[in-house]
Amino acid sequence: MKRLVSLVVNGRPREDAVADNLLLIDYLREAIGLTGTKRGCDGGECGACTVLVDGQPRLACLSLAAACDGRKVETIESLAQDGRLSRLQRAFHEKLGTQCGYCTPGMIMAAEALLRRHPRPSDAEIREALSGNLCRCTGYVKIIESVQAAASGE
Ligand code: FES
Ligand code: FES
Repeated sequence: MKRLVSLVVNGRPREDAVADNLLLIDYLREAIGLTGTKRGCDGGECGACTVLVDGQPRLACLSLAAACDGRKVETIESLAQDGRLSRLQRAFHEKLGTQCGYCTPGMIMAAEALLRRHPRPSDAEIREALSGNLCRCTGYVKIIESVQAAASGE
């Protein structure tokens, strides 16, 4: 069964008919073409699908699109403005926090939520905020350094 949902995705109001069981990740990637959100484990283990719902990090592979009715959803595509990378995107690029890049959208969205809450987080707070996001490439040190750099405005 389908229902009409009204939500705001990356600042744009939308109304879409979605199946009750449509996952948010499929809505974003397949229905509206926002493929920056990645599918990793598809089971709530890797964090690659992290997006923000009303400013809070959520796993899009475990969330229903219909549950986002009336909410604000933000994906990695929302961060760059007028062709300019956000501070976190720039920092991940400059500090080598991204290698293959598959985990990067989820990492950056989780870090974005953290920096909105705590503009100058401690190392422990960064590690805690990113503890649900797995990376097979970087060893995490460069990722932590990237978030630190974005927080300090380097
Ligand atoms: S794809 Fe959602 S947590 Fe891994
Ligand atoms: S950069 Fe490859 S999985 Fe993190």
